[in-house]
Amino acid sequence: MLRRINFYSICFAFGVSVLLILAGSRYTDNVSYRPSTENRRNTRNFLKVEDEEDMYQSVPTNVYDGSPNIEKILEKTRAKIKQAFVKYNFSYSGVHKLEDLLMEAGGQPLRSIIISTWRSGTTFLGEVLDAMPGNFYHYEPLLKYEIIQIRGPPLADQALSTIKSMLRCNYDNLQDYFQYGKTHLYQFSHNTRLWDHCKYNKELCFDANFTERFCKLFPFQSMKVVRLRLRLVEELLEDKELKAKIILLIRDPRGVLQSRQHRDFCQPSPDCWEPQLLCADMISDYVAAARLLKQFPNKLMVLRYEELALQPNRTTHDLLKFLGLGPMPSINEFLHTHTNTYVDGVSSTFRISRAVPFRWREVLDFHFVENIQSACREAMALWGYQPAHNATHMTSKHFTVLQNYTIEV
Ligand SMILES: *[C@@H]1O[C@H](CO)[C@@H](O)[C@H](O)[C@H]1NC(C)=O
Ligand SMILES: *[C@@H]1O[C@H](CO)[C@@H](O)[C@H](O)[C@H]1NC(C)=O
Ligand SMILES: *[C@@H]1O[C@H](CO)[C@@H](O)[C@H](O)[C@H]1NC(C)=O
Ligand SMILES: *[C@@H]1O[C@H](CO)[C@@H](O)[C@H](O)[C@H]1NC(C)=O
Ligand SMILES: *[C@@H]1O[C@H](CO)[C@@H](O)[C@H](O)[C@H]1NC(C)=O
Repeated sequence: MLRRINFYSICFAFGVSVLLILAGSRYTDNVSYRPSTENRRNTRNFLKVEDEEDMYQSVPTNVYDGSPNIEKILEKTRAKIKQAFVKYNFSYSGVHKLEDLLMEAGGQPLRSIIISTWRSGTTFLGEVLDAMPGNFYHYEPLLKYEIIQIRGPPLADQALSTIKSMLRCNYDNLQDYFQYGKTHLYQFSHNTRLWDHCKYNKELCFDANFTERFCKLFPFQSMKVVRLRLRLVEELLEDKELKAKIILLIRDPRGVLQSRQHRDFCQPSPDCWEPQLLCADMISDYVAAARLLKQFPNKLMVLRYEELALQPNRTTHDLLKFLGLGPMPSINEFLHTHTNTYVDGVSSTFRISRAVPFRWREVLDFHFVENIQSACREAMALWGYQPAHNATHMTSKHFTVLQNYTIEV
């Protein structure tokens, strides 16, 4: 009996290896990106609103090709990107051809920056944008500051200078960044296209010269920042060469704080744990948004996480339009696999996605919520979040949390 089981398990293992070898060779033979395969392999649901502090390591999008040779990596990446854009209509992006978006060829990429705070849905939004082929995801350039909010000098200048250098793929003076990354690899792992290569040879992750050359191959560059308040980004928007667009992502403070309850990194830090500070930041972001929308109407988009969760498809398409991107099948595929809004035409698991942003209503104690609501009255009114009147009301289906809001510019 035992022998027979052994025999079958050996056969099974052999079969699996053959399949893996076949799949692997098929994979490396093809030089175009395979967004749909990438996304299916990434089975996490956006139920989990993860942030970097979860140390989640992305699944590589390409199988290691065994080549430590930098020139070869660059050459292959260049070819892949070219292939992925054979059919793309560049007039959506305001240019004529791919080279116009490549720094390596003297062009300027389309750059986008998500400005938000911890546990506000940035991981999901970041991955949506990273599902575009040809995207280089700078992830969070300010990780080394750990759990603080930057609201002004002296740190703001340093932080902005780091952000600008990275958006220009200039890593020369970013030793601190690489040093921090040596003990916090998730700084690199979210940048899936870089991680594909450097996860097998970590020295590459810390190599400024390689990172610079690799970065300059990509027509789209995205970044998320959860440690810098919106009012400080004006100089990024003013920089005409940078052509950066900004997405401000806001979330209900009750949802944010419920989610942060379960994060060890958060509680020791008042910037992360005090409702007063979170909501003062939300007010400051609102005031800054009004001013910046007036000054740069086409360069800032404001988004509530709840809207993204309730209507991922519509919101994402508005977002792509704002960013100057044409239809992206790989993004549709990502939404399909990560939100399951439609399964055979039935909105079966949509229910789950809808519930995520409002889970705080079921799990939070009303006293905790009351405390947040009294600290956040103004922030919540500005951003269209209704208070719950009592414990019964909080869980009642008659309680409509979201309200329309406007930003007077
Ligand atoms: C790679 O895959 C794409 C579709 O995913 C296909 O059109 C193309 O012909 C393939 N190229 C090679 C070299 O197999
Ligand atoms: C590309 O898109 C523009 C609109 O953005 C359209 O006018 C043009 O015809 C398209 N070109 C091709 C080749 O499809
Ligand atoms: C990277 O290193 C190579 C070889 O040492 C050198 O030729 C090149 O100029 C460097 N590139 C950058 C961007 O520093
Ligand atoms: C998603 O939105 C796009 C554009 O608004 C639309 O064409 C498409 O049919 C939508 N898909 C689903 C599954 O709703
Ligand atoms: C709770 O709030 C609702 C809505 O304002 C109200 O109708 C209800 O009477 C309140 N219940 C209690 C026990 O105060």
